Amino acid sequence: DLLGVDSQQNLIMGHKTYDFGLIGLGVMGRNFILNVADHGFSAFGHDLDKEKVNALKEEGKHTGRVDASSDVHTFINALSKPRKIMLLVPAGKIVDSVIEELVPLLDKGDLIIDGGNSFFTDTDRREANLQSKGIHFFGAGVSGGAKGARRGPSIMPGGNKEAYQEVKPIFEAVSAKFKGEPCVAYLGPKSAGNYVKMVHNGIEYGLMQLTSEIYDVLKKAGKFDNNELHSTFKKWNEGRLQSFLVEITSEIFTQKDDKGTGFLVDKILDKAKQKGTGKWTSQNAMDLGIPVPSIDIAVSMREISGLKEERVHADKLYSRSKPEPIGKEELEKMTEEALYFSFITTYAQGLHQLADASKEYGYELDLSVIAKIWRAGCIIRAALLEDITRAYQKDGQLHNLLLAPVFVEKINSTVVSARELVAYAAKNGIPVPGLAASLTYFDAYTSSNLPLNLIQAQRDYFGSHTYERTDMEGIFHTEWE
Ligand code: 6PG
Repeated sequence: DLLGVDSQQNLIMGHKTYDFGLIGLGVMGRNFILNVADHGFSAFGHDLDKEKVNALKEEGKHTGRVDASSDVHTFINALSKPRKIMLLVPAGKIVDSVIEELVPLLDKGDLIIDGGNSFFTDTDRREANLQSKGIHFFGAGVSGGAKGARRGPSIMPGGNKEAYQEVKPIFEAVSAKFKGEPCVAYLGPKSAGNYVKMVHNGIEYGLMQLTSEIYDVLKKAGKFDNNELHSTFKKWNEGRLQSFLVEITSEIFTQKDDKGTGFLVDKILDKAKQKGTGKWTSQNAMDLGIPVPSIDIAVSMREISGLKEERVHADKLYSRSKPEPIGKEELEKMTEEALYFSFITTYAQGLHQLADASKEYGYELDLSVIAKIWRAGCIIRAALLEDITRAYQKDGQLHNLLLAPVFVEKINSTVVSARELVAYAAKNGIPVPGLAASLTYFDAYTSSNLPLNLIQAQRDYFGSHTYERTDMEGIFHTEWE
């Protein structure tokens, strides 16, 4: 029976203490604690809800390494020092109130780790505040849902580098492994961890939107039924599109409706909810001045989806002819290539944002490390991340994935299908804004000449905003009239 080093020492001293503390015993918290215990560390949970406390005690009993209490003092006294306390509570005010309650009970050198999707500026504020009290604060994004928390999530921690050493063995043990390598790494100071998780979620929104558009085209234009959709996505998941999202998509099409007949997916209302991380990615990209249109449009589409009644009304006002027939085989090839193309451009945008944010906020991010810890455990894990990792390992200064030679090749071999698919969908009234935004982003980013000279002329015309010239240095203004 393996005990963590700390608890072994503490047992010798005659007082059993626990290696790791966790507050918030919802599904994620409970699963995370059990995962910690599975790896030989002792862990103590805390939640005000006694039922959740008892549920964990029961579930963790067999390990002999898990205990919990609804009393915060019992919790604090149960932990070995420096205490390592992870919070898995909803982002926002609750995080602040938990911290406020903990601080008077903690000692200098203790660590609080926020494992939720907190907004990065909140993390900066909390870290600065706790630092003045000698307490370390980490924002650590945890991705992989409930299953990931139990069997191995991808963890994205940021904060004080030396203090990270205290939790490193636990995080490395519980994280997902890609070919034996842990999907966790110290990412950078301050809110680096939360920021990276936020962009992870932005990319997640983008990939989900793209997948849903491909589903729409296959269904409306190719008349694919759920069985065919299942086999198509399954086949794709065995190739270069291999990824968690493609995998679960293929499985979704097999789920029968347990409350009626047919398939569940056909009964689900087409209004997508959001908790905000995708929107934050988009908003912050605007602040940084970094274009991420594939993510922006994914957020907008969730908003459009929410306007169900208006959509139903508007649908009746405008006629739309049936899509022109297209062969299943041809469509399958075209959609596979278009999806691969737009997955690449979406990762490219998110990573571009990270590179810029790193400079702006002093995160000192290593994009090859981020790509590496995204290869397993997280929602956006994909075979592509292996290529992305290598591209950034080869060139740490890479401005954009689209500039890496190996991606030039991948894009060149798929862009024609992306064009054909977007053109077909536009002509036939099937909305594919994610695919279209990915394509247009690519076309714009790879154009030496854009028509924005005209915008500069207009700005100068009506507002004397000045312009630069292509043939001489300086700032110019013209009296246009
Ligand atoms: C993850 C997910 C997780 C959560 C999303 C869902 O990485 O495990 O991203 O953090 O499921 O935040 O986001 P929405 O509710 O906004 O779709």
